[in-house]
Amino acid sequence: MQDKDNGRKYVNPSFPRFVHGADYNPEQWKETKEIWDEDMRLVKEAGCNEMTLGIFSWAELEPEEGRFDFSFLDEIIDKIRKNGGKVILATPSGARPRWLAAKYPEVLRVRPDGTRIRFGERHNHCYTSPVYREKVRIINTELAKRYSRDPAVIGWHISNEYGGECHCPLCQEAFRKYLREKYHNDIEELNRAYWARFWSHTYRDFSEIESPSAYSDTSIHGLTLDWKRFVTRQTVDFMRSETAPLKAENPDLPVTTNMQYDFRDLDYFRFRDVLDFASWDSYPLWHSGDDALTASETAFWHDFYRCLKGRPFFLMESTPSLVNWREYNKPKKPGMDVLSSVQAVAHGSDSVQYFQWRKSRGSSEKMHGAVVGHDGTADTRVFRSVARTGEILRKTGEIAGTEVRAECAILLDWENRWALEDCQGFIKNDKKYIETCYGYHYALWSRAVNCDVVHPRDDLGKYRLVIAPMLYMTDRETVENLAGYVKNGGTLLATYHLGTVDGTDLCWTGKTPAGELSEVFGIRREETDVLYPHQTGKVVFRGSEYAVRDVAEVIHAEGAEAVCEYASDYYSGMPAATKNRYGKGTAYYQAFRDDGTFAGEWLSLILEEAGIEGNVPEWNGLPRGVTAHTRESGDDLYLFCGNYYGAPAEELRLGRTYTDMLTGEKADSVRLGPYGLAVLKAEKGGPEV
Ligand code: GLA
Ligand code: ZN
Repeated sequence: MQDKDNGRKYVNPSFPRFVHGADYNPEQWKETKEIWDEDMRLVKEAGCNEMTLGIFSWAELEPEEGRFDFSFLDEIIDKIRKNGGKVILATPSGARPRWLAAKYPEVLRVRPDGTRIRFGERHNHCYTSPVYREKVRIINTELAKRYSRDPAVIGWHISNEYGGECHCPLCQEAFRKYLREKYHNDIEELNRAYWARFWSHTYRDFSEIESPSAYSDTSIHGLTLDWKRFVTRQTVDFMRSETAPLKAENPDLPVTTNMQYDFRDLDYFRFRDVLDFASWDSYPLWHSGDDALTASETAFWHDFYRCLKGRPFFLMESTPSLVNWREYNKPKKPGMDVLSSVQAVAHGSDSVQYFQWRKSRGSSEKMHGAVVGHDGTADTRVFRSVARTGEILRKTGEIAGTEVRAECAILLDWENRWALEDCQGFIKNDKKYIETCYGYHYALWSRAVNCDVVHPRDDLGKYRLVIAPMLYMTDRETVENLAGYVKNGGTLLATYHLGTVDGTDLCWTGKTPAGELSEVFGIRREETDVLYPHQTGKVVFRGSEYAVRDVAEVIHAEGAEAVCEYASDYYSGMPAATKNRYGKGTAYYQAFRDDGTFAGEWLSLILEEAGIEGNVPEWNGLPRGVTAHTRESGDDLYLFCGNYYGAPAEELRLGRTYTDMLTGEKADSVRLGPYGLAVLKAEKGGPEV
């Protein structure tokens, strides 16, 4: 979907602009249709150009089995079209109508204890059920036939926030089939992979296998891991079956689904083959602590979703003000509303979309933020900030379709997380995998360095620096990928726990980090010490002391140079961080968890050695809370600066002249107010000042 004229990769080339819109659930106002017309007027006033329809409309569209009524959707799409807007159309599988559950109970999910859930809530259907798949296929076919060639419709939003698992007999059987295929119908192969002789867990036949849960087994790590893999696989299989009728009608209409942060239960990397573009629902905890950290954590996920498809993604949902499902539901402060929207764009989103357009009067989300509140007017702070975002997206519209280029990547792996969290060892219940990834990401974010978030088995060749936090599970392929990357000249920074178990969750034997990785890093790990929360260890790095928290590995340098040494406990004087030349590249190892201070300092040096500069090379030691990210295409370079703190930042020199895309004026410095932002454009390679 490359636009040949300007090198942009649009999500849908028929709409080469930023999408600014919202989930719209107009069936809530079916009896007061004047509200629909008022909505059209307000949409324009808010500078919105898109509405996402039909996410939860199944009961409207198919009120009785096989009786379809698209009149409401026809009418709304027509109004949006006449208003100059676009539609992203959902498939309604996220919540089913009552008749479906009443007639076919097999579509309802079964809990681990074997009880079947009754009709209610949403997102609780069985992904295996042939009936559910068939009913979804029928409604999706009807939708695709009717709307997939409508020029007002620019994309598909399949289902809603896929998630959860089902333990029904159909799913159990599908799980066994999956294992039969995986283990070549050889139960002994499975027994070996699961280390099943331990505690007399030996399986005699595949028919003996049950899904793991508190009602059966949670101690066979290989089984738990395979079950999680299966749940992802089954979800992806369901996605494929629901996407097929859409593609059959119009293969060019791009498909996405709305994902959520680091959603623990599903390996989102497996979604990439089914989706044409990625999208996610972002609800950061602004103003709950340090907003610089919240901003960089949010940016971590923007970076991940961009990398998932290697092209612009959509911010499918965000709140224009507050959510209603947390314990404390705090609105975003003036300025943060706009800044957090533009932040997504800075990291590669081609949309800013909200949940939801108009606030419900009843039911569970009546207190959730919306663009239009219960007062029904444009005369609110929230509405005005949405309109301001609309204005910014209009002025910067030429950025749509451009890419983010990063020289650094952080490796993220769901399977590693599952295995690590399941591992009874180290600190049993608080492994802090994602938090540790955030820590390294923050070190880059606060230095205004672009970062990709990719899978350990992805092609790493284009990066100057790759960071692999806590890569406990490294299968053979990952070992080879990482070793090959360094051998060919890459710089790799890995941490404690690297290369502990293989792809079936069996411990690597012999030297660790696993196999060739010990040579890559020039080290050998002997023990892992754990610190209680009230304990702090020490390392000495370049003459200064830094804190050790939680985990400290006792390692031996076998070829590597010790960059820093422990200065506490029985391993005092032993290496705590190392550097090793391997092939044409360099491998750094951090054997302990720090409190962010050491990693930040060390990373500054590593970045320098790897020849990586921040997006504004002038900026040495940025004020906390301030950062800058870039997008580019051909000769066009765009710089997004943001101040995530509620206090003004000092004036910052840019080192070259840009055009301020919001004011049209020339700028060689920025002055960011509280939650301030700037979007600047430069000619690449243009003169420096
Ligand atoms: C999710 C769902 C939406 C809505 C919002 C509320 O993202 O997809 O339907 O419930 O949460 O924040
Ligand atoms: Zn099931």
